[in-house]
Amino acid sequence: MTNDLPSYIKYLDSKDRLIDVKRTVSPELEITAFTDKANRVSRHESKALLFSDVLGYDIPVVTNLFGSSSSLQELFGSTYAKELLSNISAIKSQKAGLPLIKSAKMLMSSKPKVVAFQNGKYQRLKSLDELPILKVWPNDAGKFITQGLVITESPKDQTPNIGIYRMQVFDGETTGMHWQAQKGGAIHAQEAKERGALLNVSVAIGSDPLNVVSAVTPLPPGMNEFSFSGVIRGSSTVLMKNGKYPAVPANSEIIINGKVDPNELRMEGPFGDHTGYYSIAEKYPVFHVESIYAKKKPIYAASVVGFPWHEDAVIGQFVFDFMKPLIKSLNESIVDIYLPPEGIFTNMCFVSIKKRFPGEAKKVMFSILGMGQLSFTKILVVFDDDINIRDLSQVTWALATRIDPQRDVQIIKDATADSLDHTTDLPAFGSKMLIDATKKTKAEGYTREWPETISLPKELVNEVEKKWDSLKK
Ligand SMILES: Cc1cc2nc3c(=O)[nH]c(=O)nc-3n(C[C@H](O)[C@H](O)[C@H](O)COP(=O)(O)O)c2cc1C
Repeated sequence: MTNDLPSYIKYLDSKDRLIDVKRTVSPELEITAFTDKANRVSRHESKALLFSDVLGYDIPVVTNLFGSSSSLQELFGSTYAKELLSNISAIKSQKAGLPLIKSAKMLMSSKPKVVAFQNGKYQRLKSLDELPILKVWPNDAGKFITQGLVITESPKDQTPNIGIYRMQVFDGETTGMHWQAQKGGAIHAQEAKERGALLNVSVAIGSDPLNVVSAVTPLPPGMNEFSFSGVIRGSSTVLMKNGKYPAVPANSEIIINGKVDPNELRMEGPFGDHTGYYSIAEKYPVFHVESIYAKKKPIYAASVVGFPWHEDAVIGQFVFDFMKPLIKSLNESIVDIYLPPEGIFTNMCFVSIKKRFPGEAKKVMFSILGMGQLSFTKILVVFDDDINIRDLSQVTWALATRIDPQRDVQIIKDATADSLDHTTDLPAFGSKMLIDATKKTKAEGYTREWPETISLPKELVNEVEKKWDSLKK
């Protein structure tokens, strides 16, 4: 459907999901204000914005590329994606071996193809100052690159990792590298530190949208994000290799190469983040730029995040729903799992289960807390499967009527936490609240008779439904 940023922009335009902002705008706050307005108009069907005339720059800026969940569904709706998903879901069945082999084969056959750097397609830029990098919110510490695919390779076994991590511009050739300690880039930096080495880093801005979404998908460790985007696309991701730097998507609009010294830290932030607050300034690694390449007519892609909703909520919710079969395959009692965007994703997680044995709610909680980025979960609530956990009124009702706090609320101290959570005493280290909002059984020590929920016979309800319309006449 699309294989680079310009074709994705054309695609969005053809679907009436693009606003071409034909007026001069400042990269300082004004692009944020336009993007924020687009998000307030519509939460998960908001339009992308193309700013062709950015004050002081020749390079256009595009924001909110992923504000529409329909676009994400169409991008990921390929038969290959569906096959991969059905294989993953089938892993929970007794014949786990076959789907596992099929999924592994699909990922193997979509191994990225690496070609040499296509010098002729690119011009060399002298400094980051030539890029229309946004100052997003008024009290941000400066300008931030917000949609760079940060590509690193494990110094141990050269496995690549791709993540989006914000990069604060310190000057024309230096930025911060805000990878959280648990993320792939930070783990590679740790490996480099153990070897006393520097870490080569490539940053690609503006690429095939599937590469961008794959970069933020919490894939199991070691799974190549570019292989994953290849499976979804149905053809291998083509990468370009330029000397010692990790290979970047061949269709990248802008490529920044450089290195991180794992021993060098510098204060980074504040930055207006998806929590709705400015994240507290902390020490993070420094990225030293060694070369910058841009297509002859590049487009600069940026994300604007802030008080929910913004496009990160749309991406996050979509990616999480996409990964749900994998989570369910490891916990077969899970019926649904939902991270409400206003709960800042992992700060709040709702799960519904079909409880089969005493204590199963806790079993599910422990499993979730041990699973990749879900380990950041701060408030975790497990409900029975009669509760629609995406409906806040049902969630509130169940919380009010199914828990006895002294029995059903547990506080886990001294646990891993999201580094963006400013409420913890120490960065990335805090506590968790586990709430078991399932109906309690005798086997769980509940000695009374748990009351039935009130409902009318279904047939009667249906009959009245039919009669209702005639009543209104
Ligand atoms: C717009 C945007 C900005 C992000 N910024 C950061 C960031 O600054 N630091 C970070 O650790 N994760 C950030 N993330 C989340 C990571 O990209 C995401 O957790 C990803 O799965 C990390 O991949 P990894 O585990 O392979 O490192 C951001 C995501 C989005 C969509």
